[in-house]
Amino acid sequence: MAQTWTPNSWRQKPIQQVPDYPDLAALAATEAKLAKYPPLVFAGEARRLKSALANVAEGRGFLLQGGDCAESFAEHGADTIRDFFRAFLQMAVVLTFGAQQPVVKVGRIAGQFAKPRSSNIEKQGDVELPSYRGDIINGIEFTEEDRVPNPERQIMAYRQSAATLNLLRAFAMGGYANLDNVHQWMLGFVKDSPQAERYRKLADRISETMDFMKAIGITSENHPSLRETDFFTSHEALLLGYEQALTRVDSTSGDWYATSGHMIWIGDRTRQPDHAHIEYCRGIKNPLGLKCGPSLTADGLLELIDLLNPANEAGRLTLICRFGHDKVAEHLPRLIRAVEREGKKVVWSCDPMHGNTITLNNYKTRPFERILSEVESFFQIHRAEGSHPGGIHIEMTGNDVTECTGGARALSGDDLADRYHTHCDPRLNADQALELAFLLAERMKGGRDEKRLVVNG
Ligand code: TRP
Ligand code: MN
Repeated sequence: MAQTWTPNSWRQKPIQQVPDYPDLAALAATEAKLAKYPPLVFAGEARRLKSALANVAEGRGFLLQGGDCAESFAEHGADTIRDFFRAFLQMAVVLTFGAQQPVVKVGRIAGQFAKPRSSNIEKQGDVELPSYRGDIINGIEFTEEDRVPNPERQIMAYRQSAATLNLLRAFAMGGYANLDNVHQWMLGFVKDSPQAERYRKLADRISETMDFMKAIGITSENHPSLRETDFFTSHEALLLGYEQALTRVDSTSGDWYATSGHMIWIGDRTRQPDHAHIEYCRGIKNPLGLKCGPSLTADGLLELIDLLNPANEAGRLTLICRFGHDKVAEHLPRLIRAVEREGKKVVWSCDPMHGNTITLNNYKTRPFERILSEVESFFQIHRAEGSHPGGIHIEMTGNDVTECTGGARALSGDDLADRYHTHCDPRLNADQALELAFLLAERMKGGRDEKRLVVNG
């Protein structure tokens, strides 16, 4: 694209999924205020994530990306953040140890507030109100007062993101993530879970390895990599006025960066090549995600890759595939073949959540078997195509919710009412997330052994 890009050039393009703010002057005033606030993340951190993802694109490493479907103001609290981070660390350690590959850790957190909706209005009885679009835009209560988009919410989302990020940085760098604590992360409900025994065995082996290293002089005191971890944030860049307000020039490189999070992604509903979301994202230098659903053609994907990553830089673009357990075999191979044929460097990630949503007893849910089945197919297809299954993108929480059916505790449709807390889509609970991590580790290990056989044979 020859046209010059600016942080507001997206405003000249057609756009999907925009909230209908009644007071545009108030919206502009909020955006002006946000534009003066400090950045949430720094360009150097986004570059560090990009180079970690470049390794994944080259086949060395795995991307673990997960968190709430939608963060909410109501559930903002230290315990929720800690429980999430703990479940996430457990998954990361299972994957790192099982697959013996570096795991790039990216939360859907500290900014994941805006939601695309299939309808602009929601009808209950005779009453029609604007749909809920995430706490950064309007409220979830079915009242006129809550549902009218309110710009003040952007300030609240910004402040909540800052507080969340502050705690996450402390956890990641301040000792909580120390591998010496690998047993402690099991405290909480997962302790009594069907995965506990399996996790304890793995943690024992890590502790034993740590003891051995200590004996030869390598400790978490003298080796920061044993006690610290790089944890990055990500969210869907849906509300472009907010994103623009937090878009800043990096003084060292002169490049533009989104400073609302380290990585941002483009949704399956807002990826029209000549529309606003692609326009905004092409101009910032952060690592980008692109959601790929069944309607994406191979040519359409190549066009988007050229717009978003014209220099074919590894680590810039992650393709987050969300087809559904019964559609992945039809759609993934054709996209892989096109991308491989053209030599495009991407990270292939699997989102096994969004194509597997069903309604059961009036609840939106996702059967765990279907999630596992899409993951299995993802790995098999990449093995068959000779490409690298580079990552997973999931909706999860550290709490003991009942939102997805199945798993080792065999949650049924009747259990959904017990603890169904999500503000949007159903999430894996900590137990199901850990079970998924064990399966992933096995599949990744399988791939590694296979590669070794090829090399040695
Ligand atoms: N720094 C390494 C990494 O992030 C090792 C590590 C430290 C780690 N704490 C961790 C790995 C917690 C997984 C989970 O990979
Ligand atoms: Mn979702």
